[in-house]
Amino acid sequence: MLDQLEQKARQALDATPDSDALAAWHRHYLGKKGAATQMLRSVSALPPEERPAFGQAVNRLKRALETAFEARQAVIQRQEMEQQLASGAIDVTLSGRPTGPGHLHLTTQTLRQIYAIFAGMGFQVYEAPDVETDELNFGLLNMPPEHPARDMWDTFWIGDQVLLRTHTSPGQIRVMRERYPEPIRVILPGKCYRYEQITARAEHQFYQVEGLAVGRGIQMTDLIGTLTEFARRFYEPDRRIRIRGSYFPFTEPSIEADMDCILCNGKGCRVCKYSGWLEVCGAGMVHPVVLQNGGYDPEEWSGFAFGFGVERPAMVKYGIDDIRYFYGNDLRFSTQF
Ligand code: PHE
Repeated sequence: MLDQLEQKARQALDATPDSDALAAWHRHYLGKKGAATQMLRSVSALPPEERPAFGQAVNRLKRALETAFEARQAVIQRQEMEQQLASGAIDVTLSGRPTGPGHLHLTTQTLRQIYAIFAGMGFQVYEAPDVETDELNFGLLNMPPEHPARDMWDTFWIGDQVLLRTHTSPGQIRVMRERYPEPIRVILPGKCYRYEQITARAEHQFYQVEGLAVGRGIQMTDLIGTLTEFARRFYEPDRRIRIRGSYFPFTEPSIEADMDCILCNGKGCRVCKYSGWLEVCGAGMVHPVVLQNGGYDPEEWSGFAFGFGVERPAMVKYGIDDIRYFYGNDLRFSTQF
């Protein structure tokens, strides 16, 4: 009985013309309800002493047919490939498939959102260099050598007096010197560097956006209004801003602005460390010494300045829990945005 089945199966296999027929053959003989499998089921009808031998024989048959199937499959696949090649369906001389076009990195996308929001409030983009002098990064910002506040910004030195900027604030001096005696309303985006331990929250390179407005009669309320408007446009229209007193050598008075946490609405959660508030930026009224260093007479002019990081707001907005992803160059990260 088994011999007959095997013979029939082999004949049918040799006669299969293409891969469809081959698949049908496999279902018919070796599938779940196939002939060989049925045969195995009939074992229970036999007297117990004949069962082991019969079972073994059926399994041997199944293995033999499986081997024959694979051999036939190789032959048919080859035939079909040759047919395809002959009919020109595959042109092996074509060049490879191009990879898809790339897209802007999340940092660039975020920067552009920020530019658009501030453009709506009349701020131009002003770019200043990453490599700065000690004088611009510190001295002219009211931090002469040995000023203790320099400790807040340790960086990478290129020469004795040349460094990678620790913040975008030196750009304030550059714009003022270039624009005097015009009123100023600019944002200064760019990369900053700090000699820091890298963690999930801190990188040794990151982006900042500085803001600077200089004019006649500019007040703290203008600063608070500008920051509130930014938070509402960047996050959600009903965000609230909180102001705390702070210290920076280049602003007086100095403040720190926080926004009610967008994840818990100020109730307190892991992201806001249960305080209900997220830091937005450092800011303040431009210090008279800094105005003077930029060429503007503080008796006549006043201004406000602010500076915030770019990656952290993006992390809050998109729920990213590690800043290192921004520089990891991992497509699994970048293609999500
Ligand atoms: N430069 C400051 C920093 O990097 C931020 C700041 C900018 C504060 C402008 C006040 C005014 O921390």
